[in-house]
Amino acid sequence: MMLVRSLFACALAGILGSAYAQSSGQALFEAHCAPCHQNDGSGTVGLAPALTGAHWAVLGANPKYLPTVLLKGLAGRIEVNGQNFSGNMPSFAAQWDDTNLAAIAQYVRGLQGNPTVSNTPQEWADLRQSTGSPPQTRLMRLGLLGAK
Ligand code: HEC
Repeated sequence: MMLVRSLFACALAGILGSAYAQSSGQALFEAHCAPCHQNDGSGTVGLAPALTGAHWAVLGANPKYLPTVLLKGLAGRIEVNGQNFSGNMPSFAAQWDDTNLAAIAQYVRGLQGNPTVSNTPQEWADLRQSTGSPPQTRLMRLGLLGAK
């Protein structure tokens, strides 16, 4: 009976897998990111920038940028939609494994209208192993945007 039950649970998890990843990405985002970035990713004046908008057409098209922010953090002055932020976006590498971070990233990409950009588990693992720091993420961002 236990075996039958767990087989059934596995099959169900397979069918619902992608829907579950989507909703857990949303749940994680709303619990851990929205306090600063808001549920719709529109940001909070003076606290945290919007995760949507014209600059994401460029930043979001680079598949590495969003995972880099999540794994390495981001610090230093940035300009978003004409507003300056010089806060500190913490790294979430210690808090979550790649599966949870990937679910959050796909949820954010959905908000940004870039749902087809994604990363393989190997890409997450490689990026996690690579060196990086909050100021280096900022340099990557400036390079991508060609900004000051
Ligand atoms: C304590 C507030 C806070 C929380 C919580 C937070 N962020 Fe941030 N986030 C920031 C700040 C501040 C910045 C801008 C950092 C800077 O000024 O260099 C930022 C920047 C970012 C950026 C880069 C934006 C850009 O234009 O380059 C992304 C992506 C991001 N956050 C995603 C997330 C996600 C996803 C979560 C949840 C896992 C999250 N943040 C949680 C404060 C926060």
